[in-house]
Amino acid sequence: MLKGTFPIEKFKQLQTPFYYYDLSLLQETLNVIKAESGKYGYHVHYAIKANANPKILSLIAQNGLGADCVSGGEIEAALKAGFPASKIVFAGVGKADWEINLGLDNHIFCFNVESLAELRIINELAAAKQQVAPVALRINPEVDAHTHAKITTGMKENKFGINLSLLGGVLDEMQAMPNVKLIGIHAHIGSQITDMSAFRNLAIRINEIQDELEQRGIQVENLNFGGGLGIDYYHPNHLPIPAFDNYFAVFHKLVQLRPGQQVHFEPGRSVVAQCGSLISRVLYVKEGEIKKFAILDAGFTDLIRPAMYDAYHRIENISSDEATEYYDVVGPICESSDVFGKDIELNGTHRGDFIAIRSAGAYGEIMASQYNCRKLPKAYFSNEL
Ligand code: LLP
Repeated sequence: MLKGTFPIEKFKQLQTPFYYYDLSLLQETLNVIKAESGKYGYHVHYAIKANANPKILSLIAQNGLGADCVSGGEIEAALKAGFPASKIVFAGVGKADWEINLGLDNHIFCFNVESLAELRIINELAAAKQQVAPVALRINPEVDAHTHAKITTGMKENKFGINLSLLGGVLDEMQAMPNVKLIGIHAHIGSQITDMSAFRNLAIRINEIQDELEQRGIQVENLNFGGGLGIDYYHPNHLPIPAFDNYFAVFHKLVQLRPGQQVHFEPGRSVVAQCGSLISRVLYVKEGEIKKFAILDAGFTDLIRPAMYDAYHRIENISSDEATEYYDVVGPICESSDVFGKDIELNGTHRGDFIAIRSAGAYGEIMASQYNCRKLPKAYFSNEL
């Protein structure tokens, strides 16, 4: 079975579980992103929520990307890692006053505003600082992302963005707000989107919205299409870099840009998912009546995506080349959802073997918890081992 390449001799010195990041793959991915977005002059803001490990952030910042933040903590992390404030966008349905003030104090590029209630507060807080806050309205475009319900955001029933039917009222009230300036529209329809027709529909919907805005005499300088490009969780060895060429080409082909208009994206998963693996050791192989369990020292506290979203991650026994067998691969946590995969084909597995759970660079380490008083996983990097 084709596996990723890992420095196993080095791993032997380390306590498991830990995240291992292949920084050369991250750099190659960034090169592709820069080349493909650069063809059209698009601006890319990395979605910090996917992975905020300081080393990952500083490599991404060094490559000239901007940052998409959803909390004050993320703004702080972005600034610390070297992202310039002028390339930071700030989204989120529930921005606290201190977080808005932090954005204002640092003169970030844009607040992606999700409701009229929030717009009023940003106007008020900016007035108190005698500033005019740059805002983009996050629109709920009612475009189905055809992805997991828990990571769909662009439908009427989701809490995100301003409903299309309410947009007119928001724009009307906004005219009487002297301390906010409309600089763009923003939409993000969901995550792990592999069906390009969802992005096509988004591009077309934004064209329609632009036409409506123009009827009101409004032209915005910036269009932000959010993130959401999916990755191939099944074939991390064959397809380690997502098809950014196709992705950006969809927008280039369909979006009707007005003169001088700038286009922005906020990819998270597609940037960092494939460069990270969760590495653990097998503690026990337990023979059940009908199953064999490979019990790892990693659990859902280290990687919650399988338990939370029934997400698939490819699992490899990187220590063994014995004939394959089927195992339920589980963690040590006292919950029956602590399962990484059922009936997984692994090379013959024994206590002490290293197991790599692949494509875990996005929404892995950053979503780790200390439930059961477990330690947070450490991180190691290919250029350090
Ligand atoms: N922009 C906004 C406004 C977002 O809400 C998100 C993700 C992104 C950009 C980045 O999306 P990406 O390119 O990573 O798909 N924890 C879940 C994913 C949650 C995504 C939330 N929003 C998971 O593990 O699948």
